[in-house]
Amino acid sequence: MLDKSPYFFPQLPEITVDSGGQLLLAGQPARDLLARHGSPLVVILEDALRRNCRAWMHPPAGDLRYRMYYASKALLTTGVAALMAQEGLGIDVVSSGEMATAIAGGVKPADILMHGNAKDEAELAYAVANGVGRIVIDNLEEISRLAGIAASAGIRQKVFVRVTPGVRPTTHRYVQTGQQDSKFGFNLEGGLAQDAVLQVLRYPQLELVGLHCHIGSQVLETEPFVAAAGRMLEFYALVQQELGAPLDELNLGGGIGIRYKDSDQAINPAQHMSRLYDFVEEWCTRHGIACPLICDEPGRSIIGETGVTLYTVQSTKCIEGIRNYASVDGGMTDNPRFALYEARHPVAPATGMLEPADQIWSISGKCCETGDMLIHDVDIRALQAGDVLAFFSTGAYTWSMASNYNRVARPAVLLLGNGREGLLAKRETTIDLLRLDNIPGWLL
Ligand code: LLP
Repeated sequence: MLDKSPYFFPQLPEITVDSGGQLLLAGQPARDLLARHGSPLVVILEDALRRNCRAWMHPPAGDLRYRMYYASKALLTTGVAALMAQEGLGIDVVSSGEMATAIAGGVKPADILMHGNAKDEAELAYAVANGVGRIVIDNLEEISRLAGIAASAGIRQKVFVRVTPGVRPTTHRYVQTGQQDSKFGFNLEGGLAQDAVLQVLRYPQLELVGLHCHIGSQVLETEPFVAAAGRMLEFYALVQQELGAPLDELNLGGGIGIRYKDSDQAINPAQHMSRLYDFVEEWCTRHGIACPLICDEPGRSIIGETGVTLYTVQSTKCIEGIRNYASVDGGMTDNPRFALYEARHPVAPATGMLEPADQIWSISGKCCETGDMLIHDVDIRALQAGDVLAFFSTGAYTWSMASNYNRVARPAVLLLGNGREGLLAKRETTIDLLRLDNIPGWLL
């Protein structure tokens, strides 16, 4: 047995290994958690989550005003929304489903900001009827659609205009959003953003409070955000000074990455925000404009590392000279990130954390699909049926992107605190899977 685990996992005080090589989550052996709640299981470490909320909520902002929204697409249940509201974050939503969840979790509608490149009439009407705080206008069609809805409701809706700043950060191309060729927002280049602002200003039912941008997700450098802020500030000043709009908010859109592997450089929230905020303050002073309220929408950097998914190995297959497969009781249905982006989450055997990682295994999911892999070729100790595998940093974009392919039920999500545990989402059952089915009368 080794005296130190050979596996890489997030360095959180809630994730430890005991002297027998058992993985402990908030002091609880991983195997015991599965015995109590079933397998697979998504565990969210409450103390780590609250620490991250506070790290992003209380940046060293100097005199700068700021507002944080949690990007709920990373993981949202009513309980997650309740925790975010307790911690004082607003919530960013992309659909009426996310909005309904946030409201049901106790988030005040005024603290909700709504995005989306294809919001339909009903979604916008739902948002307006509920008194949503901000709506981010993403396309021309939406301007008159929203103005009409606000007029019928007899209100003036606060809006942002989403700008595509033309910044391409280093990250997977599927999660780049700030470059010219993007389905989101109005490009700065070619004057589209300016035309959109002019259109919005024509409608008295729309109150343009600020500008929004998002350059991408899992970005592990601060400088692309600074570059985007620079372009946005230039446009912000132009809109204020030349188009006469009294803007007060600039939303820089989240997107900060986390460490999925040892060689990833962590972004420290305080340092990231100091650099960004100093840049904004300095720019505004130099150009003689009042500093906007800076908004941000971190998702992954708040919840990603606080999640651990536990699976049980069901079968193994070793093909001499080719590959070793270990199949688990979940897969792309609860974490499609490897299938979609070849994203590699850290993985370790939860009951053999101190054994040498002296074999190479590929971990497959249970779906009838060759592409249903959780990871290829990972160094790990020998595996056999019954072993518990821990995939780390699964808090963001795993359960929230889960599906029922092959009618596989989605796992439970457990909030695990210091000495307390409670479900954020129950495990799906066969009854849930059949709930929306209908047999047309003539088939009976
Ligand atoms: N704001 C907007 C407008 C966004 O589009 C996103 C993410 C965020 C905020 C939050 O970004 P974060 O801080 O979490 O990076 N499914 C992908 C990630 C898609 C992110 C989409 N937008 C994945 O699994 O990596």
